[in-house]
Amino acid sequence: MNLPMQEPPVLIRDMTHEDLAQVSSIERRSYDFPWSHGVFRDCLLAGYHCITLERDGRVAGYAILSVAAGEAHILNLCVEPQHRAHGYGEKLLNDVLARARQADVAEVFLEVRPSNRTAIALYRKKGFHQIANRPAYYQSHDGREDAAVLSKKLTRNY
Ligand SMILES: CC(C)(COP(=O)(O)OP(=O)(O)OC[C@H]1O[C@@H](n2cnc3c(N)ncnc32)[C@H](O)[C@@H]1OP(=O)(O)O)[C@@H](O)C(=O)NCCC(=O)NCCS
Repeated sequence: MNLPMQEPPVLIRDMTHEDLAQVSSIERRSYDFPWSHGVFRDCLLAGYHCITLERDGRVAGYAILSVAAGEAHILNLCVEPQHRAHGYGEKLLNDVLARARQADVAEVFLEVRPSNRTAIALYRKKGFHQIANRPAYYQSHDGREDAAVLSKKLTRNY
């Protein structure tokens, strides 16, 4: 009898300094212009919401959220390449949205490359809409790339 493959359970928890080597490794394998180890360390020191998704005792994804003045910004959201398309990105996004709600945030913002169709599909699925375009916001291999600014208004229950 063929039993369906069981996905190991995952745990979403606060990021620690001990996670940074694994986080930086995933970051380098995920982006052409990755954040440095120091940027992640500064996010922890600044008290941002830094969370990791752990699978089999290893970091398999992470997200960074900053909250100020009733607004929140998702600064990073990333899943280990070999663990994508298992619902982990959506889990991380649900968790940061729950944290924003708990902090009484009215609206959550983020920037994304218009070429990043996967991330945009995830954000649209979770109710984000494009509200602006920031010209030449990102570094790219042939100059600069615009950023699409997306937002989602939060209510208590959704
Ligand atoms: C964007 C990212 C976080 C998505 O993580 P993931 O764990 O693979 O996504 P999930 O499995 O949770 O998928 C959730 C939704 O995202 C969308 N999605 C995921 N993979 C997709 C793909 N290959 N093509 C199109 N849409 C996709 C779908 O809407 C999906 O919902 P569905 O399964 O009901 O169709 C991941 O691709 C990643 O880490 N990319 C590199 C880093 C990055 O670009 N981060 C965003 C910066 S703004």
